[in-house]
Amino acid sequence: MSSPEVIETTNEDDEMATTALEMPDFDDEAATTGLTAIRERPDLTVEFAKQLLTNPVTNASGTISLSSRKAVNLGQFGLLFTKTQGLKARLGNKGQRIWETPSGMLNAIGLPRLSLDDFIALEWPRWLELSQNLNVPVGISFAGESSVQFHDITRKLDRLEGVFALKANFGCPNVKEGLAFGQDPGLTYEAVKAIKEATDKPLVVKLTPNVTNIAEIALAAQEGGADALAAINTILAMDIDIEAGQPVLGNTTGGLSGPAIYPVGLRCVWQITDPKAGFKIPVIGIGGIDCWETAVKYFMAGATLVGIGTANFCDFETAGRVVAGIEDYCAKKGYKSVREIPRAKFPE
Ligand SMILES: Cc1cc2nc3c(=O)[nH]c(=O)nc-3n(C[C@H](O)[C@H](O)[C@H](O)COP(=O)(O)O)c2cc1C
Repeated sequence: MSSPEVIETTNEDDEMATTALEMPDFDDEAATTGLTAIRERPDLTVEFAKQLLTNPVTNASGTISLSSRKAVNLGQFGLLFTKTQGLKARLGNKGQRIWETPSGMLNAIGLPRLSLDDFIALEWPRWLELSQNLNVPVGISFAGESSVQFHDITRKLDRLEGVFALKANFGCPNVKEGLAFGQDPGLTYEAVKAIKEATDKPLVVKLTPNVTNIAEIALAAQEGGADALAAINTILAMDIDIEAGQPVLGNTTGGLSGPAIYPVGLRCVWQITDPKAGFKIPVIGIGGIDCWETAVKYFMAGATLVGIGTANFCDFETAGRVVAGIEDYCAKKGYKSVREIPRAKFPE
């Protein structure tokens, strides 16, 4: 559905209209259009997990928290996700936890969080209130250390009111057990099945790029019953302080994110949306998006939604800029809806 938007005329437009009125062969219709242009704007709504979102832009988990609302207009997003939750409270990693790199950043934060019970009692009600005030749905990201734990956490989250979707994080490189599930198709399949047995809520599986063949992991998630995929999490990386002669991060390695990684994200999204390889479920394209052009590239790679992460730290208005840019791009191309952006023509 496209909503007509009334464009206010500017003073310059008024001047032009007056000039037009003084012209002898004045065209009524053109002047009316000039005075109050009613233009059909492209429809940005997207159906995801059986719900209509106002736009296809979400946040990458862990880059928007409840306190972000003081700086970022969270109403710019069509969908929000929490940071990854888990059973036990964690402090995260020691030492230097973030580091700037060319066109990116390294983080080894290590998933600090409340316990699941505290999240449910203290944090979720505040997310729900925010969601209702902004009219933006919110999903919960979570991770477990075994299929049984994934199942148990899901049962608790399933009972919560107002959860739009669950997102299982199978790819955090900064915790000891964080990558195991996303690197083994058998474990992925088993964990996804265990989660789906505990809930009817839509399940998004977030994948790591730190694998040789992301398509086989993605297929295992789809076969296990995932309703959607998200890719990518950060890329395992490190940096060295040459004066100190030691790694810059307390954890030695960390996850690389930011504009430097978008080509890796595009490649992964293309691989896990290829219909010829049997992919049927929608994908949230994440990794390095800081402008609308990169978002459009993700749609052309096959993504249904796009997620903004690191860029939220650099420019609080990124999401709004990206949404406006996608809209203008569609208008320029003559697309009535963002869903008309075609998949790029990839060679057979
Ligand atoms: C500071 C920070 C914290 C993150 N925390 C999480 C998290 O809790 N769960 C998760 O699935 N991904 C987490 N990520 C990964 C992002 O969601 C995203 O997948 C990654 O940063 C790539 O996107 P970007 O280049 O737009 O940041 C985190 C990333 C950063 C930079």
